[in-house]
Amino acid sequence: MFYETNVNNHGLEHDPFKALVAPRPVGWVSTLSKNNEVNLAPYSYFNAVSDAPPMVMISSNQRKDTLTNIEETGEFVCSLATYRLRDAMNMSSAVVDKSISEFDLATLASADSQLVAPPRVADSPAALECKLWKVLPIPKGLSDDRASKHNLILGFVVGVYINDEYLSGGLFDSAKAGLIARMGYMDYCHVTPENTFSLNRPKVTEDGRSASLTPGPWDGKYR
Ligand SMILES: Cc1cc2nc3c(=O)[nH]c(=O)nc-3n(C[C@H](O)[C@H](O)[C@H](O)COP(=O)(O)O)c2cc1C
Repeated sequence: MFYETNVNNHGLEHDPFKALVAPRPVGWVSTLSKNNEVNLAPYSYFNAVSDAPPMVMISSNQRKDTLTNIEETGEFVCSLATYRLRDAMNMSSAVVDKSISEFDLATLASADSQLVAPPRVADSPAALECKLWKVLPIPKGLSDDRASKHNLILGFVVGVYINDEYLSGGLFDSAKAGLIARMGYMDYCHVTPENTFSLNRPKVTEDGRSASLTPGPWDGKYR
């Protein structure tokens, strides 16, 4: 099949787009309003966009408390979502009154961040403390006259918390942490030791004309 996105003539019951660009990591974003109300919500339009400087992006599909709070305070924290915390993560997506903290709604403990004011999810294995760089409004599509309601939030990661329990041999153990990621529809996947594998990057010969692959676990070299 093939469909044109401006016509959306896929003929399927549900738009497949988000199921195709998957799995997407879940940024579990905590913020404070200008009145110091705590907010927490999961965002799967979330990813790292640079590691020098470390930067992340979140996309909000309409005006939401997270976007407003980040614009007002310039700060946010992205805790990692895990299988063990999946129900709390899901509960924190409920659209409740701004005065209600999703930490309380999902009975989650918070912990102080070090470089920014919003707290992190205490039981999450890692959290990125971020400062806003820019909010970019997503433009309307190429053949579409309707304005987009999406906004792209780009932030610098100024501090990184890692629970030492999830460091094995100096590496962050995503499988031990049990990270989850969003697929299409209401589906998720779960990182486990059984479903992870390593690939060594190709070794290119000196003349640059051929390359070979080294099978087995990572040899510890970035190429
Ligand atoms: C796993 C998951 C991923 C989500 N990803 C996004 C996203 O990328 N962008 C978005 O606008 N909403 C996303 N949502 C919905 C928001 O979490 C939801 O609208 C939430 O109420 C927003 O809260 P806020 O108004 O406090 O920011 C997601 C929900 C779930 C459960």
